[in-house]
Amino acid sequence: MKIIEAKDYKELSRKVANIISAQVILKPNCVLGLATGSTPIGTYKQLIEWYEKGDIDFSKVTSVNLDEYCGLETTNEQSYRYFMNHNLFSHINIDIKNTNVPNGLAADAEAECKRYDQLIEDLGGVDLQILGIGHNGHIGFNEPDSVFEKGTHVVELDETTIKANARFFESIDEVPKKAITMGIRSIMSAKKIILVANGPDKKEIIDKAIYGPITPEVPASVLQLHPNLTVAYCFNA
Ligand code: F6R
Repeated sequence: MKIIEAKDYKELSRKVANIISAQVILKPNCVLGLATGSTPIGTYKQLIEWYEKGDIDFSKVTSVNLDEYCGLETTNEQSYRYFMNHNLFSHINIDIKNTNVPNGLAADAEAECKRYDQLIEDLGGVDLQILGIGHNGHIGFNEPDSVFEKGTHVVELDETTIKANARFFESIDEVPKKAITMGIRSIMSAKKIILVANGPDKKEIIDKAIYGPITPEVPASVLQLHPNLTVAYCFNA
């Protein structure tokens, strides 16, 4: 495991963007596993800046996102498809047809989960997976549980996750209660993983996840078993 400690959010974002950028330069047709949430926004901004300068070319890149809420239209500002288009895809030269987010509107959610796992397999797996971490240790929407859920699956969101996400909605009642998420097997099968955490409130869970026992009660703790894990964090306010 490699640890990168940054002095502030800007430096954290630049370092993570550097790693993504190196991946794209070394393998222009790579598969990037992407995350939403507040943590990667600075990274995406930095990548956009370098793209605009001509330093990075996304034309051959394919992306797969970790997760999506169930029941939100892609035009809904809180959907993860909207987030990705708005915060990254529409500002770079990635082919939108090569960007993948689970379809949270699929009539048959179970079939959608199977399709998503097959898609990742057909792509030859993820080269570099970016992860954020929830305060309860979730990665993607893999919430604390008594087992590690394997493939892409439908989840009932944890009460703490619903509360944490309520800040993005007009009221807590509007926060979807279900989501589709890549599972632990899909995440762990990525060739490289970078777990990113920002802010003093993430210190406790990062300590638990990377130094504590490996347990499905702290889903991110499974990452200790990954052969190519980088943890990048800034705990300063
Ligand atoms: C997002 C995702 C979530 C977030 C996590 C941290 O696609 O899968 O696991 O990474 O909730 O969110 P932030 O970055 O907002 O603290």
